Amino acid sequence: MKPIQVGLLGIGTVGSGTFNVLERNQDEIRRRAGRGIEITMVADLDTERAKSVVGDKVKVVADAREVIANPEIDVVVELIGGYGIAKALVLEAIAAGKHVVTANKALLAVHGTEIFKAAADKGVIVAYEAAVAGGIPIIKALREGLTANSIQWVAGIINGTTNFILSEMRDKGLDFDVVLKEAQRLGYAEADPTFDIEGVDAAHKATLMSAIAFGIPVQFDKAYVEGITKLAGADIKYAEQLGYRIKLLGITKRTDKGIELRVHPSLVPAKRLIANVEGAMNAVVVNGDAVGTTLYYGKGAGSEPTASAVIADLVDIARLQGADAAHSVPALAFQSHTLAAAGKELPVLPMSEVVTSYYLRIRVSDEAGVLAKITGILANAGISIDAVLQREADEVGGEGSTQTDLIILTHDTREGDMNKALDEIQGLHTVLAPLTRIRKEELN
Ligand code: HSE
Repeated sequence: MKPIQVGLLGIGTVGSGTFNVLERNQDEIRRRAGRGIEITMVADLDTERAKSVVGDKVKVVADAREVIANPEIDVVVELIGGYGIAKALVLEAIAAGKHVVTANKALLAVHGTEIFKAAADKGVIVAYEAAVAGGIPIIKALREGLTANSIQWVAGIINGTTNFILSEMRDKGLDFDVVLKEAQRLGYAEADPTFDIEGVDAAHKATLMSAIAFGIPVQFDKAYVEGITKLAGADIKYAEQLGYRIKLLGITKRTDKGIELRVHPSLVPAKRLIANVEGAMNAVVVNGDAVGTTLYYGKGAGSEPTASAVIADLVDIARLQGADAAHSVPALAFQSHTLAAAGKELPVLPMSEVVTSYYLRIRVSDEAGVLAKITGILANAGISIDAVLQREADEVGGEGSTQTDLIILTHDTREGDMNKALDEIQGLHTVLAPLTRIRKEELN
């Protein structure tokens, strides 16, 4: 059978990896796919750099639309990123009857409903394994391997940049700003790291996992997003003393009222495997009613790890071999006509309805009755305390200090109730600084 012809839009880090891995493993990939997979055309504004990667045998152009217009091209691989031109090109490729493979989580998390509908109407596939957790086949696991399960929750370290920063903060006892600069110097963080450190990249990925775990539309606008920029080294240290690590988790959970979809720093018991995922690595824990808890670990970014996911999608498409794309694995795991109704039945909950436990750090004046007042407010709000830790004032504020940190761990409570209690606590004259609240996930 004729090799499948692939056109790449963008040949940076992931595109080069895709080209190189396809070249290197072409025999095995052909035996797996049942036909060859060939990159025959590449569009990149930097045509010289593109030529230096692919050589003379591949046609290199500057205009992505030339790839889309080429009737020989079966699959367009979009590696440009962002929601701007990438969205237009993906929709044009679909309209031209091309299958699309993309690593673009931002595009799918925000415009997925429109894009998947366009693909279904045209009878083509939009595949996106590389969009979530790079080389880890988590989309495959959720859509296919775990298809028997009613998924209960998914929690993942799905942003390598922030996990690297948190690991360094813990290992070296440094503050966020110092580590961020170091991460940028080492190339672990982008020059503009906003999407990573503010949790947006993780929320894009969590949104996609939420849709395919629960069979609901992609709803990035309903996600709660909180990054790591306000985390203090002190919180990492106190968490450690209480037996926890702080990780930026993407969490989506089925509850009686609807779906939780949230990204924020979380205390995780140090004994959980996921708490020990260090550096730029990613890991996702999935809990299904039949399988129980499963863990997927690996590189969430990088040239060849991400290429591994892109090529897996190309192999899936190559294996169609004339079969009807409409009967392949559904883009969002569930049949598309069921998504809208499920989205109404299982709404994504506002953050005030989320139920979780909390770590609180409260800077107080070290005087009689302060602890009693604070625990009284929590008790009145029906919030049960799990543990309390109070540091020596000298240790916190230096010799002779009259201030100290009060650390409180709570049991599960509604976020809305916690917000009200925290407002009241913050208003006490003995509370001397903005308090810190970090959510806690036992993941058991
Ligand atoms: N910027 C992402 C991360 C990699 O740090 O994990 C691509 O999604």
